[in-house]
Amino acid sequence: MKHYPVMLPEVLAALQPRDGETYIDGTFGNGGYSKAILQAANCNIIALDRDPNVKPRAAELSETYQGRLKLIETPFSNMDEALGEDKVDAVILDIGVSSMQLDQAERGFSFMRAGPLDMRMSQSGPSASDAVNQLREKDLTRIFQVYGEERKARRAAQFIVRAREEGALTTTDQLAGLLEQALGRHSKNHPATRVFQALRIFINDELGELYRGLIAAENILRPGGRLIVVSFHSLEDRLVKKFLRRRSEKPSGGSRYQPEIVTNDFAPSFDLEERSAIFPSDTEISGNARSRSARMRWAVRTEAAMFDDNEDLLPKVPFLSDYKWAS
Ligand SMILES: C[S@@+](CC[C@H](N)C(=O)[O-])C[C@H]1O[C@@H](n2cnc3c(N)ncnc32)[C@H](O)[C@@H]1O
Repeated sequence: MKHYPVMLPEVLAALQPRDGETYIDGTFGNGGYSKAILQAANCNIIALDRDPNVKPRAAELSETYQGRLKLIETPFSNMDEALGEDKVDAVILDIGVSSMQLDQAERGFSFMRAGPLDMRMSQSGPSASDAVNQLREKDLTRIFQVYGEERKARRAAQFIVRAREEGALTTTDQLAGLLEQALGRHSKNHPATRVFQALRIFINDELGELYRGLIAAENILRPGGRLIVVSFHSLEDRLVKKFLRRRSEKPSGGSRYQPEIVTNDFAPSFDLEERSAIFPSDTEISGNARSRSARMRWAVRTEAAMFDDNEDLLPKVPFLSDYKWAS
């Protein structure tokens, strides 16, 4: 399936690409954003992706645009370390899974394609199969509840734990079939949808990555630099919204009516250009159904120092690093 860059006109409107500036495309994917930005101005792009499969596409764009694009294979949470002392004029994140990843059966992201139960964007570390075969029932339940918002999370986890006693669960179709048995078919969505999403978020530590990525962006943006985030899931959007609200609050945010309330001790590190999320146009949604859950938020870096951490923005869920994985 062809990959359409989601909300591209809105991203370009917020970014306003300018000659001589340097941008981080933190989720290079198929390079849809990068290509449009390189076309719009004589600027430079540092492209990041943790999926090694994007390399040929990055090499192609780098050649077409005379070396103005450079790929670094790394998670975007690492962008500040990867750049050292250098600062940039924008960070753009389009988080989640790409159409290429979803469409390749051997990557194991989709319950609609028979393949190994993998789901690792970076193709390293524990896989979705390791998670379903090794996690405790109560942790599987919690992951399905929080990351998948699955109402029957406990039942799904019980079925998985019972089934794995008979032999390891290793394929997408095996798990999808089991979930259909456990949860039944009650709507047009496949009953495996939410559990697959939850496993993908867990295996790729997507919320942890996003949280650390926002902080890394705060660290490497120049004053006046733009942070633009497109997300596809309410958990991600909520995290971006809370992060940006907190970072853009004035130090003693009390009003005339509540003058004593001090909301934070720091000068705001971001100016919020628009308080609400921006959604894809109806035209985009009718042409690309996958864009319908997308939303974008953006803000401009101020001159203020960085904030301290806000670990409390993350939900309380088991993390990949909490486990000792059997290989
Ligand atoms: C939705 S696609 C991006 C599509 C891209 N904007 C385009 O126009 O082609 C997301 C990409 O980000 C990558 N990705 C997701 N999370 C990442 C992370 N934490 N660090 C680096 N890359 C990540 C995925 O591997 C995938 O290739």
